[in-house]
Amino acid sequence: MNKLFRSAVIAGNWKMNKTPAEATELINAIKAECAGKATDGCTVVACVPYVDIANAVEAAKGSFIHIGAENVHWERSGAFTGEISADMLVACGVEYVIVGHSERRQYFGETDETVNKRVHAALEAGLKVILCVGELLTEREQGVTAEVVSRQTKIALLGVTEEQLKNVIIAYEPVWAIGTGRTATADQANEVCKLIREVVSSLYGTAAGNGITVQYGGSMNAKNAAELLAKEHVDGGLIGGASLKAPDFSVIISAAQ
Ligand code: 13P
Repeated sequence: MNKLFRSAVIAGNWKMNKTPAEATELINAIKAECAGKATDGCTVVACVPYVDIANAVEAAKGSFIHIGAENVHWERSGAFTGEISADMLVACGVEYVIVGHSERRQYFGETDETVNKRVHAALEAGLKVILCVGELLTEREQGVTAEVVSRQTKIALLGVTEEQLKNVIIAYEPVWAIGTGRTATADQANEVCKLIREVVSSLYGTAAGNGITVQYGGSMNAKNAAELLAKEHVDGGLIGGASLKAPDFSVIISAAQ
């Protein structure tokens, strides 16, 4: 399938930034920056901290912006102090959720197994999942990028049905490119996004592999987005720092049209 037939998704990951009042301001600023420009060539998502969800949903109402969360617990309810369930997110108007971000893997003990559990919980509740995979710098240097990314993808998708896969987006985020200003080259991004597509094809068949949206994330910004997004296997972006600046995020949205 040609990339033109896949849905492009530009998603911001706000990480631990913005108070609720600031979230309202930023969503309004993104709407203002994009006013009069085409936005229907891609799906636009803002993944925000839990406490910002209510304000972000309210500010985005009736606009082209969809709201996502940055994590979700795998249980539906119970004694899990500090955690948030998929049903809670849905009830707040959340449509997307990031699962398995490298910062969760690095700092909060996230494993391939817990990623898989979160993927299931999110899909069962009706959320769309942005599943993050990506290698460390040492792994790239050791030449095991393909093995790492394949393993992460396969384990995260264990037990996910072909029907459920339609609600999964995979974000390739090389850990060495996150927040470092060191972007993967467009060719490096394309190569691994292609590999992820092949892994999905091996699990679900060629049509599923060709149809799945694969994003690149890692220092994507207003300057390099167009080149990355032009690549055949790069269907969108998961953007950290640049998603916090409405003018920059708007340029990236335009680059995806
Ligand atoms: P940066 O765009 O700040 O490098 O962050 C990327 C990222 O981690 C998105 O999830």
